[in-house]
Amino acid sequence: MSGDPVSGDPVNGARVTRTDGAPFLVLGIETSCDETAAAVVADGATVLSSVVSSQVDLHARYGGVVPEIASRAHVRLLTPAVAEALVEAGLEDARIDAVAATVGPGLASALLVGVSVAKSLALVWDVPFVGVNHMEGHLYACFLHEPDLEFPAVALLVSGGHTMLVLMEGHGRYRSLGSTVDDAVGEAFDKVARFLGLGYPGGPAIDRIATVGNPEAVAFPRAMEREGYDFSFSGLKTSVTRYAKAHPDAEVADLAASFQHAAVEVLITKARRAVADTGARSLCIGGGVAANSVLRRRVAEACAEDGVAAVIPSPELCTDNGAMVAAAAWRRLRADGPTTLEVGVAPSLALGHPLPG
Ligand code: KG4
Ligand code: ZN
Repeated sequence: MSGDPVSGDPVNGARVTRTDGAPFLVLGIETSCDETAAAVVADGATVLSSVVSSQVDLHARYGGVVPEIASRAHVRLLTPAVAEALVEAGLEDARIDAVAATVGPGLASALLVGVSVAKSLALVWDVPFVGVNHMEGHLYACFLHEPDLEFPAVALLVSGGHTMLVLMEGHGRYRSLGSTVDDAVGEAFDKVARFLGLGYPGGPAIDRIATVGNPEAVAFPRAMEREGYDFSFSGLKTSVTRYAKAHPDAEVADLAASFQHAAVEVLITKARRAVADTGARSLCIGGGVAANSVLRRRVAEACAEDGVAAVIPSPELCTDNGAMVAAAAWRRLRADGPTTLEVGVAPSLALGHPLPG
């Protein structure tokens, strides 16, 4: 996995500053899953507005995201979200310098809505379109939090669809260290929560109820903890459901806290190992699970102990949002120039891989 060096690419890169000295404004659109989001970011660094229209209520009764419902909701919610983002940023005249959207990974029909709207706006406003990798977006949320993040950095990206450790040697330069061999950690949170009757989305529900549970109540297994950088969460999920069936009187809060403890400790152990082995100067976290209160506390503690910088963006920047898309787009535009309007959506796009089309 390798990306392109970003700063000052003389061949393909585009200008990302304005000759009039005004900030360069990117509108970022995110519709890869169940959040309809739009944001305006100035100079790749300052969030002027960030609007997230959650579809949680629409999917809750199905216990998970229904792609058809998600894409219909994006169609309905995206235009108002964009309008609100422009107004909130004080841009009634829609002075935007580039329009970006997530092209993948994600649900094809959901991605199509954001990409189509972004391309249309870019055409109408006669500005560049930039296609963004969703995971690179999660990574660049870290730069919105800490613009001077020190390289090399290890990034722990944890969401509903991904669990990965990435070594970042510079802007756009990634090396994959490890990833999950089965379930993503967010998926495990969601499935365990559903089984325990905590509803959807499961991550925040487990985080909440775990505050009154005992994390040491049950010693759930920590798969593959002792070596390497890959993860496995499917066995942990099965252990929780087995234990709950065998112990019907167990407190749900204790089960939730014990599950969360096991999951977080594996993430922390592997992230620390990656930092130590690579000599990284920073550990950054991103993706929806990075909003987890225990993970955030443990990352801060571990980094303080190990003497590396902890980069922990606000919970709103960790879960899906448009600002992370705009931040990643500003870098990509500077490195690679605009994305062709021929580009399609890429539901399985890997980090550091070229966009299709
Ligand atoms: O990045 P994200 O918003 O969407 C995807 O790209 O998947 O991540 C969503 C995932 C879901 O699995 C959700 O349950 C989890 O992030 N999540 C959390 C928390 N908030 C969201 N997991 C644990 N604790 C949280 N506080
Ligand atoms: Zn995400």
